[in-house]
Amino acid sequence: MNEHPTPESILQVGLGFWPSKVLLSAVEMELFTDLAKGPQSLESVRGRHGLHPRSARDFLDTLVALGFLLRADGQYSNTPATDLFLDKRKPSYIGGMLEMANHRLYSHWNHLTEALRTGLPQNEAREGGLTTFEALYADPARLKLFLEAMSGGSHGGNLAIASKFPWAGYRTFADIGTAQGDLAVQIALASPHLSGIGFDLAEVGPIFEEYVEKNGVADRLRFVAGSFFNQPLPQADVILMGHILHDWGLDDKLMLIRKAYDALPEGGALIVYEMIIDDDRSKNAFGLMMSLNMLIETPAGFDYTGADCQGWMKEAGFRETRVEHLIGPDSMVIGIR
Ligand SMILES: C[S@@+](CC[C@H](N)C(=O)[O-])C[C@H]1O[C@@H](n2cnc3c(N)ncnc32)[C@H](O)[C@@H]1O
Repeated sequence: MNEHPTPESILQVGLGFWPSKVLLSAVEMELFTDLAKGPQSLESVRGRHGLHPRSARDFLDTLVALGFLLRADGQYSNTPATDLFLDKRKPSYIGGMLEMANHRLYSHWNHLTEALRTGLPQNEAREGGLTTFEALYADPARLKLFLEAMSGGSHGGNLAIASKFPWAGYRTFADIGTAQGDLAVQIALASPHLSGIGFDLAEVGPIFEEYVEKNGVADRLRFVAGSFFNQPLPQADVILMGHILHDWGLDDKLMLIRKAYDALPEGGALIVYEMIIDDDRSKNAFGLMMSLNMLIETPAGFDYTGADCQGWMKEAGFRETRVEHLIGPDSMVIGIR
């Protein structure tokens, strides 16, 4: 413990929306995509992105000071990280998550206090009486934004699952709630002996198929449309659930784990993956805030610890369970039937 407390971290976090919104606006304007073509002067950026003379210099220099742009001889350019991850034309683009944060979450989080007091979602579902996914998917543009956001937020974890899990021992997999299908694509690219299914609501199909085609793995991946509330899960050697369980309350979580158990052969594996909270619930702040995000986004969803999930898996009959760290705040919980 610090003997002399300082206010630094209080102010940094309290005003954390300043740097957040600076970055989100830069992504919204596709500034990094533009600068990936080459360095530009202040005047050039100002003209191309329609910035007011009052704002342009402070905006760009803030991005320099935050470490998202470089400036040399009056020319602004991307850093290696913003060039790799925020240039829309590169497959490594993760800005979909930030686009969604900018268009949706930023304003929904303004109602956090209300969510904390009422326990009620504060997103699109708030107005229309629709469920979270119905409200999200009612508008095709919002649907695409959401599915691309999922790829952006999950890509690092998806690559880690594709390389870390012992895939050699299995032949088929099914990714439940696959969204655009990035997890299925990364697994298929890394392990040519595997074929897989992406399972999701019917609206998602065309976007999954376009993405799979673009990545050249359409011969080994297919889409199965359905709702995991109304039907059994597709049978496979390995069942994956990325950021699925946290969308739902405890009864639905247990139902989904049981359905996965039923769809697996003896020796088959269930991989549950998201920002698994540390068992002491004191370190993975990102995972804990993701749980608050579920408070805002869903009627009953919450994130959970590795011990919680292993307990639910044991209850469903899985004979072996373990937790493995992936990257950053992400871990996977593995259950072997
Ligand atoms: C939070 S996203 C996770 C996407 C992806 N697995 C990932 O990790 O990035 C939840 C996914 O579950 C899907 N989903 C929601 N309700 C569903 C249902 N009843 N049956 C099947 N999929 C559903 C959504 O369409 C969405 O793709």
